[in-house]
Amino acid sequence: YLGWIKGAALAGVATIALTAGSAQAQTVWRINVSMPQDGHHGIAIDTFAEEVERLTEGRYVIETFYAGSLGGERESIEGVQLGTLELTFTSTGPVPNFVPELSILDIPFLFRDYEHARGVLDSEIGDELLGRFESHGIKGLAWADNGFRHMTNDIRPIESPEDLDGLKLRTMESPVHIAAYREFGILPTPMAFPEVFAALQQGVVDGQENPLSVIESNNFDEVQQYLSMTGHVFSPCVFLMNLDLWNGLSDEDQAHFVEAAQAGTAANRARVDEDEATAIETMRADGMEILEDIDRDAFVAALSEVNAQFAEEFGAEEVQAIRDWQ
Ligand code: PAF
Repeated sequence: YLGWIKGAALAGVATIALTAGSAQAQTVWRINVSMPQDGHHGIAIDTFAEEVERLTEGRYVIETFYAGSLGGERESIEGVQLGTLELTFTSTGPVPNFVPELSILDIPFLFRDYEHARGVLDSEIGDELLGRFESHGIKGLAWADNGFRHMTNDIRPIESPEDLDGLKLRTMESPVHIAAYREFGILPTPMAFPEVFAALQQGVVDGQENPLSVIESNNFDEVQQYLSMTGHVFSPCVFLMNLDLWNGLSDEDQAHFVEAAQAGTAANRARVDEDEATAIETMRADGMEILEDIDRDAFVAALSEVNAQFAEEFGAEEVQAIRDWQ
């Protein structure tokens, strides 16, 4: 054992160790999520870390951090951009604050279902969108799923858009979500995710919106009586890495990192599928009132004007290409 040597590309960030009996340098980087380890984000980074270590034969070690212990998603993306955090796995909600050209992905009612969303993200359209991080100092390694977002609250069941009027809902720090939800009559309260459970419990907000995987693994059914399956936004996830670190990798290691991220995506999507199949039943059994049969067309119609504005602002042709994808 020769001890830890700080520094390299980013002082204090990349740590290099020389392990006993071998001249091989080991680089230790961190990746984080806002969700608990037992969930669709945790499994993504656990798989990624295992695969990076396996594929690089231990030259790269990825330390995993959960439940926002290194900060919320907005803060983490910023950290990756600045180089104070090496990697993060995040939903795209806060991404437009750093990469405005990706605002398109969080437009409400853009994707029909999981097959559509995954198909687009895995297609040439998805590859081109992933490339948009690079001019902002970030490397996008692979898309994954957060899931279709649904509304929960503790005031009343949401059957029609009118029922949302005046509800104070926690939203992501996403300019697209905030603008859209205002059209529903919601009073949006942007907040980093690590603060949400307490805000719901203390009644600081009436509700929030998130995919089933998030609602269940964070026990929101304990503090929210009603869930409506609005599916108003498909929320993608993405593996992000600091661009300078990425550029410092050999071609071979770059391929390993992408392969590891894709393995993380496969594990993440399998977990999402599992959650989608079981979460409603589990949370209903625990006493949550869940409305599956909502008038989706009325929710879509309520956002038609703001969605037309988004298309104009973010590129009508691109929006149409995503909608038309088969
Ligand atoms: O609501 C959010 O902030 C996000 O959906 C979450 C739960 C952090 C997962 O990406």
